[in-house]
Amino acid sequence: MCGIIGYIGKKQAYPILINGLKRLEYRGYDSAGVAVFNGDVHVYKRKGKVQDLIDFAKGKNIRGTMGIGHTRWATHGKPDDVNAHPHTSGNGRLTLIHNGIIENYALLQEALKKEGHTFESETDTEVLVHFIEELQKRDNLPIEEAVRVALSKVVGAYAIVVIDRDDPGKLVAARKASPLVIGIGEDEFFIASDPTPIAEFTQKVVFLNDEEIAVVTRGGDLQIKTIDNEIQTPFIQELDVKIEAMEKGGYEYFMLKEIYEQPKTVADCMRGRINATEGWIKVGGVDTCKDRIFDANRFIIAACGTSWHAGLIGEYLFEELARIPVEVEYASELRYRNPIINEKDVVIALSQSGETADTLAALELAKAKGALCYGIVNNVGSSIARMTHAGSYIHAGPEIGVASTKAFTGQLTLLSMMAIHLGYERGTIPRSYYLQLLEELENIPGKIETLLEKASDQIEYIAGEIKDASNALYLGRGYNFPIALEGALKLKEISYIHAEGYPAAEMKHGPIALIDENMPVIVIATNKSAYEKIVSNVQEVKARKGKIISIVKEGDTVIRNLSDYTIEIPDTDEPLTPLLSVVPLQLLSYQIALMRGCNVDQPRNLAKSVTVE
Ligand code: F6R
Repeated sequence: MCGIIGYIGKKQAYPILINGLKRLEYRGYDSAGVAVFNGDVHVYKRKGKVQDLIDFAKGKNIRGTMGIGHTRWATHGKPDDVNAHPHTSGNGRLTLIHNGIIENYALLQEALKKEGHTFESETDTEVLVHFIEELQKRDNLPIEEAVRVALSKVVGAYAIVVIDRDDPGKLVAARKASPLVIGIGEDEFFIASDPTPIAEFTQKVVFLNDEEIAVVTRGGDLQIKTIDNEIQTPFIQELDVKIEAMEKGGYEYFMLKEIYEQPKTVADCMRGRINATEGWIKVGGVDTCKDRIFDANRFIIAACGTSWHAGLIGEYLFEELARIPVEVEYASELRYRNPIINEKDVVIALSQSGETADTLAALELAKAKGALCYGIVNNVGSSIARMTHAGSYIHAGPEIGVASTKAFTGQLTLLSMMAIHLGYERGTIPRSYYLQLLEELENIPGKIETLLEKASDQIEYIAGEIKDASNALYLGRGYNFPIALEGALKLKEISYIHAEGYPAAEMKHGPIALIDENMPVIVIATNKSAYEKIVSNVQEVKARKGKIISIVKEGDTVIRNLSDYTIEIPDTDEPLTPLLSVVPLQLLSYQIALMRGCNVDQPRNLAKSVTVE
């Protein structure tokens, strides 16, 4: 949420900032702004997308080899030009960009007003930059010290970068609960919310930790201190991010590219971790804390949104295959309850970004209560990856479309591997079934590919038939119940059609009242278990004249004959079905959103990486 970028070096900063903002735009697109320094600081900011900023800044004074940029997801104050970042201090000396929320901004603002400060915007960020200015003026502090003292009095979350017009050879950055990474090039530094704007210039990065302040100096070095004034040694890491992974590669939208990447990303997730021929499976993170995982009383899975849906499937997998009791929690609820968690629990956090504020907070709570914290994360070096005791990356590569697709199937792949591994090691599945599941898991990438090839025209046709609906119902049982939830979420978030996911049998307890000839009902009916039950559910929908779109396994005739439209997926073992059944639902939502003229990659009001509560 909110993307920030900074540059200091020998190159022109503006093109680097704009390019960086485009890469970070998935984090927020309410407004965009830059500040460049060339003797003085020039700020350009505009409501809307990065393109609106580019149009606005055309022909203006944008030269300079140092600058900062911001793309906003509005929290305090409406999305407009005034509330857009960067914000400038009252005396015009400091310019600042910020991702996060300063919770005590109202108190600070009150005190600053008494000192004569006036404010133009409605943002907490403007208060912060005035506060830093006030401390700098009062005690005649160098900028990094003024930032440090100010942040020690601030409550909330922040990733910031500051320019001091009167000390222009440096950028000062700091973070707490919002991500920040520093790229180290040849005589140049980059600062960004994530590595995507940096990777094309350098693969050498330092991920800043919470409550650290970094100073990068022109032609100099990187210095890091804590808010408590302790000097830190920067830990330099090598990225492995390829430029192609951050481009659309000929697809109209990132979301479509990411849907079609799934055969590869699922295979990447398994690479080096399973071998069906040799009969082994290795999940590195599990092996590092094997005893605690094997002896756990229960698993608690904490996540948000699509990752929470993956967690629900994890519950089915771990309970069925490994016979480990599982609870799946919305991270936002878990953190504000007083949950009973102890050292015999394993808390598994699922997160694409690795930065979701609620998931992080839930993990911190679990850690404090002595649980083993395990992260299943996509973004390498992210906060969740660093704060957990152990974990596994899903290796899906950068996911840029706001609606999560390939990260979801990556999470399912990882959870499946863990459950199969634990089930076999704990003796809850026989070797024959274990080998069968391994083999079938290895076949999944090919099956997704076949499915995408065979079903895409049919999906596009169905999308055309139901695109004008105002509501949609998604039904599934067992492993396909969370897929019904996920299908509904995908539809509502990118096409703005109201949709609900339900366990198919629950339909009779209320939602059936909604069904008439205008209601598309998408039934995910690939189950082998409870097949007759789901046939009955489809009959019930048909009797109320609902428009039935069924997802079935190939060769199914019973449900096909009851349905208005049918999409076939290749057959597989039931625990692995979600890896296939979700794909047509992703594509269906995409096609419907496209036909309705929606911006698929940047749906309204949303942003990827929810770093505020
Ligand atoms: C939906 C979507 C969100 C995220 C949720 C959690 O398509 O992307 O619901 O799944 O915000 O994000 P992560 O996985 O980054 O913790």
